[in-house]
Amino acid sequence: MADPFTLGVASGEPLPDGVMLWTRLAADPLSDDPRRPGGMAQRAVEVRWQLAEDDRFTRGVRQGTLQALPIWAHSVHVRVAGLAPGTDYFYRFMANGALSPVGRTRTADDPASTRPVRFAVANCQRYEHGFYTAYRHLAAERPDVVIHVGDYIYESGEAADPVRPLGPVSGQAIRLHEYRLRYARYRTDPDLRAAHAAAPWVPTWDDHEVADNYRGRGDGSQAFLRRRAAAYQAYYENQPLRVRPRNGNLQMYRRRTYGVVADFMVLDVRQYRTAGTMLGAGQEQWLLSRLRTSPVRWRVLVQPLFFARRFVPGPAPNLRTDSWDGHPGQRARILAANAPGLVVLSGDVHNAWAGELKADFLDPASATVGVEFVGSSISSRPPRTDGPAVLAANPHLTFFDDRRGYLSGVMSPEELRVAYRAVDFVDEEGSPVRTVAEFVTMGSGLTSENTSSK
Ligand SMILES: [Fe+2]
Repeated sequence: MADPFTLGVASGEPLPDGVMLWTRLAADPLSDDPRRPGGMAQRAVEVRWQLAEDDRFTRGVRQGTLQALPIWAHSVHVRVAGLAPGTDYFYRFMANGALSPVGRTRTADDPASTRPVRFAVANCQRYEHGFYTAYRHLAAERPDVVIHVGDYIYESGEAADPVRPLGPVSGQAIRLHEYRLRYARYRTDPDLRAAHAAAPWVPTWDDHEVADNYRGRGDGSQAFLRRRAAAYQAYYENQPLRVRPRNGNLQMYRRRTYGVVADFMVLDVRQYRTAGTMLGAGQEQWLLSRLRTSPVRWRVLVQPLFFARRFVPGPAPNLRTDSWDGHPGQRARILAANAPGLVVLSGDVHNAWAGELKADFLDPASATVGVEFVGSSISSRPPRTDGPAVLAANPHLTFFDDRRGYLSGVMSPEELRVAYRAVDFVDEEGSPVRTVAEFVTMGSGLTSENTSSK
């Protein structure tokens, strides 16, 4: 029997007393047989799991057995509870006589903890656009938690001029087996698997997990809703989420809190989008109430899209309607909550940016009410962008860089520091990584440190 652990292992959704553990069995990950996703027969497979204090599994903490079912593409989601807060653990799986790689995970801090939180932010990893070397460097940092702000896969047909080909089924993903195969293709990358095995993840999605620039229920047709349901199911099957999709929906907005230091408010900017709002009414109400009442130092919006105003000089359109500039009313209500320690983590634009959030973006003298850090991309190619011209047109934006990479940060009760890490190239393996800028804030305004220009 071939090794069923070709897609690696993962953990995520940390709480002070527990985490989710994940794997998905795939003896032949690139099998394009719709009746045998991952090359697995249509029957349940028994999977054992173990969690220990050490990576040699001499100090076992929990273990169990469960069935990997064909209706969930032989994925398993293990909910482990009763653990100690702020603690590293190691886990592995056994199935069909094979042993999986070992993953390292970590619980969230105790609710009273003031310990600094080390986090990384990743996004936008189009497979054909390049190698995931940035993930190899991210994994080596072993952060407390990895935040993913979307475009984990691209549903599109194969990109022109690919650095590496998608292989079988390289057309646009529409049906369930096509999404499943796309995730399997992405997970064949060893650096992506290493990043999942290095730390627990808290992911949210953007559009390409389903379809380019989709909003809400799309055109409302049965065909689109079937496609969205298939995409949501495949997303669940390939991430260590706590909740399953139900009736074609998947509850994604949630918070993950680390002590009194970091309150990660994870948003869903796609599923509930309406003509007038990015988040829909229910999610907005949830967010505003948490922003107003959170007792935590840093209130962090985890979401894909550029939040600050970004006016692009030149021919129209100068503001991007798919982003928050297309939803200024809801953005204004979020900023008007006046949440102390407001931080936005975002991505989507395939270039790195940093800036301040203003009470009124059109008035540079208005109050600074938060900061934003925009991650570049792990591999996705950037559009042509005149960074200096955009910076000049938007005084609240202070930093632009056009290299691929990720963010690496630490939050403490005193300050928040974010380093922009960039790789030199993604068209071959093995790029080194460098810190191209580092920012620090104590809650109002952003100070740049050690920034090296190109
Ligand atoms: Fe993207």
